[in-house]
Amino acid sequence: MRKYVYPKKSLSGIITVPGDKSISHRAVMFGAIAEGITEITGFLTGNDCMSTIECFKKLGINIEINNDTVKVYGKGLSGLTKPKDTLDVGNSGTTIRLISGILAAQPFSCEITGDSSIQKRPMNRVIEPLSLMGAKMKGLNKDNFAPLRIDGTKLKAIEYVLPVASAQVKSAILLASLFADDITTIVEPIASRNHTEIMLNYFGADIKNKNGKIISSPVKQLYGKTVSVPSDISSAAFFIVAGLIVPNSHIIIKNVGINETRTGIIDSLKLMGGNIQIINKKDKIGEPTADIEVKTSNLHSITLEGAIIPRMIDEIPVFAVAALFANGTTIVKNAEELKVKESNRIATITEELRKMGAEIKETDDGMIIQGNSKLHGAEVESHNDHRIAMSLAIAALNAENETIINNAECVSISFPSFYDYIEKF
Ligand code: S3P
Repeated sequence: MRKYVYPKKSLSGIITVPGDKSISHRAVMFGAIAEGITEITGFLTGNDCMSTIECFKKLGINIEINNDTVKVYGKGLSGLTKPKDTLDVGNSGTTIRLISGILAAQPFSCEITGDSSIQKRPMNRVIEPLSLMGAKMKGLNKDNFAPLRIDGTKLKAIEYVLPVASAQVKSAILLASLFADDITTIVEPIASRNHTEIMLNYFGADIKNKNGKIISSPVKQLYGKTVSVPSDISSAAFFIVAGLIVPNSHIIIKNVGINETRTGIIDSLKLMGGNIQIINKKDKIGEPTADIEVKTSNLHSITLEGAIIPRMIDEIPVFAVAALFANGTTIVKNAEELKVKESNRIATITEELRKMGAEIKETDDGMIIQGNSKLHGAEVESHNDHRIAMSLAIAALNAENETIINNAECVSISFPSFYDYIEKF
């Protein structure tokens, strides 16, 4: 699909964006291995989370979907059954990495694959710790890449230092640790999102965090729960940036998850002078939410580096768009993980924004972005990466003349109705 996006003179309104992708995936997975029913409201029905549902259906779990309400009929820790054919995670890194932690402990073997992007993403980061726990896991064509074959077994507890700040790897080990013979310890050099720890404990697990050391005891059982999914801050981020850079704008985004392991985008944009207010704070079973109010702002440049990077890893492409309109030169460092996302996001965002007239340079671990830009519309590529397509659309709102985004349909991975929101403003 080719999508035409036109500049806007102002943006105003109160919006609600879809449910959090990370939390939606986890609610299905944990519900599947819990006893009893898990009822999820506000579920994100984007392609990635639907891939998780399809995988668990193939593993013998009954799952009912009614709009954004999902009922998972859990079968307990030992209730999954060997799938008849290969599990397919589509484009979803979260699905393949987290489910590997569960499959590593099953008394059966299975194969799992995904689309061409998934087949290029590194799986050694989960193969290594899960193999140390005793599972047999390897790439069928190339050692560390999907398609993978996983031979589940009885697992041993490990002590493991995460080589990268990755919630997907941490979560795979935590899921495996539920089935292990003893206490598993994970050391996290820099904190990554902690939805797994929060939700698994809510389902009955025993996971503690002592100064970055995560300690998980095996459990006999998890219990099905009701889960109300907050709106995704990663989706809200597009409209936070749009509200800051498009003149005369005032947007309120309702009921957004503001877990502090995810709010780096708000902190960094505020550091740049962004007028962002957090109002109506609430708590949803350990996951805080709030409304986010944004007004057009005069931004200035910053250097973005260090521990804030994992707290906004998925928002860095749209952060780069904000930086184009800030006063001064913004530098992004320590963001090499962007190279192994759905696309090489350092390369793809710089290449495409340049087509719109941006002065932005790729570096080994980030980018250098010249501010005070005057962008013009252009024909750009999504690289089949949802967050690249949406970031380019936000840039297009503040560019001269129309922009055409090729392969724009990939937004359905995390935000199927994204273009309707832009058109309705
Ligand atoms: C996610 C973790 C992050 C993030 C991804 C979702 C999760 O990946 O980029 O979109 O739900 O755990 P990494 O663990 O690779 O950093």
